[in-house]
Amino acid sequence: MEERIKKLKKEKNAVILAHNYQPPEIQDIADFVGDSLELSRKAASVDAEVIVFCGVYFMAETANILSPEKVTLLPDIYAGCQLADMITVQALREKKKEYPGAAVVCYVNSPAAVKAESDICCTSANALAVVNSLKDFDKIIFVPDKNLGSYVASKTSKEIILWDGYCPTHNDIEVGQIAKLKENYPHAVFMAHPECRPEVLALADEVLGTSDMLKFASKSSANEIIVGTEEGMVYRLQKDNPEKKFIKIERAICKDMKIITLDKIEKSLKNLEPKVVVPNEVRVKAKESVNRMMKIS
Ligand code: 13P
Repeated sequence: MEERIKKLKKEKNAVILAHNYQPPEIQDIADFVGDSLELSRKAASVDAEVIVFCGVYFMAETANILSPEKVTLLPDIYAGCQLADMITVQALREKKKEYPGAAVVCYVNSPAAVKAESDICCTSANALAVVNSLKDFDKIIFVPDKNLGSYVASKTSKEIILWDGYCPTHNDIEVGQIAKLKENYPHAVFMAHPECRPEVLALADEVLGTSDMLKFASKSSANEIIVGTEEGMVYRLQKDNPEKKFIKIERAICKDMKIITLDKIEKSLKNLEPKVVVPNEVRVKAKESVNRMMKIS
């Protein structure tokens, strides 16, 4: 299967991008594995005609927003994001009417139409820098992740208006689970993704997006690290740092990240389907919001 995929990739001049949460066999065949920000950058810069995006829908949309001239494939079109589904453009417009002087910062885990309606995008790696870059605004509507939003609020002097959205995978991580792991691994460092609830983040030694988790793990002197995010991350961390022990959180699994398979990648490359295409009128405005973010980080 891997050989067939490699051959098809060559034939179609395609590149495979995979998020850090993808299953091991997909990370292993990908040309590039990264976090949302790195994948967006890669999608924009890579020299290929076809991008096979192994991630979820909003990530493939971002690739298409940045590189409409390339064909963007999502090998399973039903790989969605429950967090992104917790906001609509209509609901955001209503919120903007409530706070007319506020800027809108939109986490990249959102539909393209919401990005188009926002002033600027952010990822977990740059959310605070993006918010602080908005010098002319004291009030920020932060959508759609309330946990990332309240983490940013705790680090900035700006007023942050939260949206009631969350990533179920991160939001379901419980304080009790972390306490138990800390008891079992008393020397372990706990790093947590900012999509976790505030009470979980309060227990963290480090609050980091997935790319910063990788950087931290390789630099840290800790030999045991509890990984407060989706469990796919543990595969990548362990592969890059075989001498260290990474402890995953039970049940922290994003089902949408796991529905892409090698079989679906092969089919997708063969048929150049399913494509993700953001309509032009949305894409142009969404691109402005993504580009503003790219300039900051
Ligand atoms: P990162 O940008 O940190 O990779 O996070 C993406 C994501 O979807 C987390 O749930």
